[in-house]
Amino acid sequence: MYHKGWYHIFYQYNPYSAVWGNITWGHAVSRDLIHWLILPLALIPDNWYDINGVWTGSATRHPEDGNIYMLYTGSTGNLTQVQNLAHPADLADPLLLRWVKSPANPILLPPPGIGPKDFRDPTTAWLGPDGLWRVAIGSRVEKLGLTLVYKTDDFVSYELLDHYLHSVPGTGMWECVDFYPVLVNGTKGLDTSAVGEGIKHVLKASLDDTKLDHFAVGTYDPVKDLWTPDDPESDVGIGLKYDYGRYYASKTFYDEEKQRRILWGWINETDTEFDDLKKGWASLQTIPRTVVLDSKTGRDLLQWPVEEIESLRLNFFCFDEVLVGPGSVVPLHIGSATQNFAYIALQLDITAEFEVELISGKKPGEENRCDGGAAERSSLGPFGILALADASLSELTPVFFRPVQTTLDTVTTYFCTDQTRFSNTHISIVTVALTMILDTFD
Ligand SMILES: *[C@@H]1O[C@H](CO)[C@@H](O)[C@H](O)[C@H]1NC(C)=O
Ligand SMILES: *[C@@H]1O[C@H](CO)[C@@H](O)[C@H](O)[C@H]1NC(C)=O
Ligand SMILES: *[C@@H]1O[C@H](CO)[C@@H](O)[C@H](O)[C@H]1NC(C)=O
Ligand SMILES: *[C@@H]1O[C@H](CO)[C@@H](O)[C@H](O)[C@H]1NC(C)=O
Repeated sequence: MYHKGWYHIFYQYNPYSAVWGNITWGHAVSRDLIHWLILPLALIPDNWYDINGVWTGSATRHPEDGNIYMLYTGSTGNLTQVQNLAHPADLADPLLLRWVKSPANPILLPPPGIGPKDFRDPTTAWLGPDGLWRVAIGSRVEKLGLTLVYKTDDFVSYELLDHYLHSVPGTGMWECVDFYPVLVNGTKGLDTSAVGEGIKHVLKASLDDTKLDHFAVGTYDPVKDLWTPDDPESDVGIGLKYDYGRYYASKTFYDEEKQRRILWGWINETDTEFDDLKKGWASLQTIPRTVVLDSKTGRDLLQWPVEEIESLRLNFFCFDEVLVGPGSVVPLHIGSATQNFAYIALQLDITAEFEVELISGKKPGEENRCDGGAAERSSLGPFGILALADASLSELTPVFFRPVQTTLDTVTTYFCTDQTRFSNTHISIVTVALTMILDTFD
């Protein structure tokens, strides 16, 4: 959330160890979403209703009184998942250092028919046409993944709706549900309560069974409190994902300062638990991304690192008209680390555009996606960037396109990374944005 000049993140944190457990709310603030200052813990497990963990929650700012309603899941002494409420002790404090739990906690227990361990991660609330707030909570009934909706006036007492906001068979438990409006035309973000013409709604669930973040674009009826996917074939959990690498437990928030919607995900490294314990920490937050609806398709989301990332750029190199023939690697020289240590560091932000001459002709049986890695050839490519490569090309991280001719006149393109040939000896950040222009030649 944004508050008085600062972006705040509250995150799941174990103060005692680099493995999951003793979950508290860590707290950090930033002016620019890039440089962060870690603050004291915001919420700790200290009541029967959250003694086994202060789990995921969401902030809602009241447009009238300016108060911040922080809803979160607590795991109780008997491991039941309940919802709790907290407020900043002093709204005038830009850093929101101190938090007070509501004496009314827990404000929600699992309703009849919902398992005590299947009731978590309340969303940011949105205001309905009847003047009541709605809060969505992820759950499941057997393998039916679903979103419960509660109505509330004061964030203390709630009424459960007699139907789900949405549910999808076979998808299992929905964690960290997120529900937000996007403009059909335009790049501005919208306040979570926005509804009306020219607005679609995104429903996202983190699938506990597969650890993948799935979303779908659909239509929300604020009177009936029902959301329907625009394309039922590509519903939540069976269609699109935010990211095809590691990416989980993401959330968005509306940044009123810059009028944009920002998506944040959590990444689990490839390190072993043993290594995590040795290094003393585990997991990352991704670079925040702005998210807008792709007005061309109306069903995809376009994600881009927040513009503030550009403040990290210290130097600039441009390579034009580079010809890359079959089987070739073209080095792009930007100086060596010793010569130019100050700016080379280990961070690169690469934007590349490829123009491809597509020769029609499908290799029989060709359907490899990203699975074969970058070494496996297809009728065209793969091609892309070899990031973090050493001189002998024994160590490298390919980020690449694999266009696959699926029928005579359809090309399906996979955008992949190959993580099988990098070592863990370099801590580095590379963001790569690749664009491909396909020219078809008969
Ligand atoms: C949780 O914290 C206690 C100390 O309060 C510690 O003994 C225990 O090992 C911790 N568990 C984990 C998983 O970090
Ligand atoms: C666990 O605690 C919850 C909340 O107090 C209570 O409703 C439930 O009955 C308890 N369950 C068991 C099995 O004791
Ligand atoms: C979106 O923009 C297009 C082209 O400018 C226009 O035809 C269409 O009506 C707009 N749709 C909405 C919902 O505003
Ligand atoms: C974390 O990583 C492990 C293996 O590296 C993977 O099996 C697991 O699903 C990941 N968890 C999440 C939540 O991404």
